[in-house]
Amino acid sequence: MWATNAKILGVVLGTLALYTLIANKIPQVQSEVPQTLTLGANVTSEQLVAAGEKVFNGIGGCPTCHGLGTRAPNLLTDEKGQGTVGARCGKREAGKSCKQYLYESLDNPTAYVVQGYQPIMPVMTRQLSPAQVWSVIAFLESQGGTVDVTASDIPAASTTAPAPATGAAGGSGSGLAGGSTDPKAIIQAAGCLACHKLDGQGQVIAPDLTHVGSRRDAESIRKKVLDPMSSIAKGYEKLAGIMPKTFGTMMNAAQLEALAQFLAAHK
Ligand code: HEC
Ligand code: HEC
Repeated sequence: MWATNAKILGVVLGTLALYTLIANKIPQVQSEVPQTLTLGANVTSEQLVAAGEKVFNGIGGCPTCHGLGTRAPNLLTDEKGQGTVGARCGKREAGKSCKQYLYESLDNPTAYVVQGYQPIMPVMTRQLSPAQVWSVIAFLESQGGTVDVTASDIPAASTTAPAPATGAAGGSGSGLAGGSTDPKAIIQAAGCLACHKLDGQGQVIAPDLTHVGSRRDAESIRKKVLDPMSSIAKGYEKLAGIMPKTFGTMMNAAQLEALAQFLAAHK
């Protein structure tokens, strides 16, 4: 068991090292999307692509899953002989242009699930501003395709609107997944299954949550989600600190409650 765990730990540590590297490489002043400086009505495709690359590696958190090999399709490098994402995006769904497909991937990731992968991708339009979403699309198009995103794709009101700092749709209480209190929608939007398994879906880096209700009550789960360092799962001490600490700012109170009750009922 520790052989597998050691392997998983390697992947996790690698990801964290990557993040540290990225954080150190990008000058702090520019580490956020330059959404306030360049995405005006006259934004060029080069500016969109450059902004999108920062979103991809920074606030978007895309490399957490993409580019590690098996969790999610390669985007910037070839994927199973189908080319880079810009080269294959127009061929995924009949009648959908590359731009339409990429937007759908970020807005409704389960509408088309790439064969061989689990539907764990979070709804990115809940976490990123429209300017960030469209610049990421431009960046993805630039990877082997034609950039046809323009300022007119970005709703006027949002070209200069600052985006939330921690991927939070809420903070102000609106909550991710459009404020939905459907626990499955919350889990999908929060990306819990990038690490956890639940009812047979998801990854095995972290404890399987299918029977978490037999180990923790709703109160304990609520605390764990709000403050992951408050109590570490038995046998997973070496992975303490991996679970994101930002869920409290992403969910509103009703969502946290719905999630805690839902998981506590998984006996
Ligand atoms: C929690 C893991 C995870 C994160 C974070 C994530 N993705 Fe994904 N993504 C996936 C998985 C798994 C798939 C394949 C299954 C599917 O289609 O939903 C996928 C599919 C895609 C696809 C379709 C690829 C294809 O070959 O058709 C695109 C485009 C994409 N993601 C872009 C992004 C971008 C951009 C970000 C960051 C803003 C991102 N993803 C963040 C897991 C993730
Ligand atoms: C980046 C990976 C990651 C993500 C995303 C993540 N977790 Fe975790 N989680 C972990 C790890 C690793 C542990 C085990 C170590 C610990 O307890 O901190 C854990 C432990 C837990 C536990 C305790 C399990 C037990 O058996 O006691 C619960 C409950 C939990 N997570 C719920 C969630 C929920 C709900 C979400 C989504 C809102 C989530 N996690 C997202 C990595 C993650």
